[in-house]
Amino acid sequence: MQAYLKLDHIDKVFTRGNATTEVLKDINLTIEKGEYVSIIGHSGCGKSTLLNIVAGLTGATNGGVLLEDREVNSPGPDRAVVFQNHSLLPWLTVYENVKLGVDKVFAKTKSRAERDAWVMHNLSLVQMAHAKDKRPNEISGGMKQRVGIARALAMEPKVLLLDEPFGALDALTRAHLQDSVMALHQKLGNTILMITHDVDEAVLLSDRIVMMTNGPSARIGEVLEVPLARPRKRLELATSPGYLKCRQRVLEFLYERHSFVEAA
Ligand SMILES: Nc1ncnc2c1ncn2[C@@H]1O[C@H](COP(=O)(O)OP(=O)(O)OP(=O)(O)O)[C@@H](O)[C@H]1O
Ligand SMILES: [Mg+2]
Repeated sequence: MQAYLKLDHIDKVFTRGNATTEVLKDINLTIEKGEYVSIIGHSGCGKSTLLNIVAGLTGATNGGVLLEDREVNSPGPDRAVVFQNHSLLPWLTVYENVKLGVDKVFAKTKSRAERDAWVMHNLSLVQMAHAKDKRPNEISGGMKQRVGIARALAMEPKVLLLDEPFGALDALTRAHLQDSVMALHQKLGNTILMITHDVDEAVLLSDRIVMMTNGPSARIGEVLEVPLARPRKRLELATSPGYLKCRQRVLEFLYERHSFVEAA
């Protein structure tokens, strides 16, 4: 397999005073260009820590991350992150929130008019162009996540990192946004690494699902291929044997083999 993004022998140990916790142990994963990979695992197992290492926000204790064979260990626009909690700047409008990143990344390569058109193009991709002059407190949670996705896409990242991007949304908004992200992935062919707690979300969206064991010292327990044709339609899949088989496999992993244990 072509290694576009490679997580290479990653260990992560947190140290506080003389107490140390090994959160991640020997994480190895290669992701192809254009692939949609989800990471699923119980709360506290180290999913966000792993995503933050890929984003360059946290350093690995051992091992590292390679993107197109180059080691990455600081944040960069080639790896844009969308967090669960809307991270828009409240004093800026929707347009300005997206523009901020665009101005930074394309200062030398796009003219002012091109940057403006690019911001609007990305807002249109997530159906938020109409709200360009609103501020974050004037739009709904789902709309904020759309803007967060537009902001990330507008930087033309090599990899889009999503940390439970739909986690704080109600079920209907969540489904709607999942469909939007699926359509964007189909259209743009982005490479996506997404964290989720939601088994159906993982199966619906992913090409592969990475299942993590419980921490401390969480590892990749199993990687499941999701061999469902795209584009995928949630209603049709709900009764499809292929979908149900994948779903069952993830459920078994999470609830039989690695059921949640409350940390002492
Ligand atoms: N900065 C830190 N210092 C010390 N320990 C930390 C730090 N960040 C995370 N941890 C610990 O690492 C473990 C994994 O945390 P992480 O946030 O990665 O889990 P998670 O799988 O994303 O959980 P959730 O599903 O609840 O978001 C937890 O035990 C947490 O307490
Ligand atoms: Mg997390």
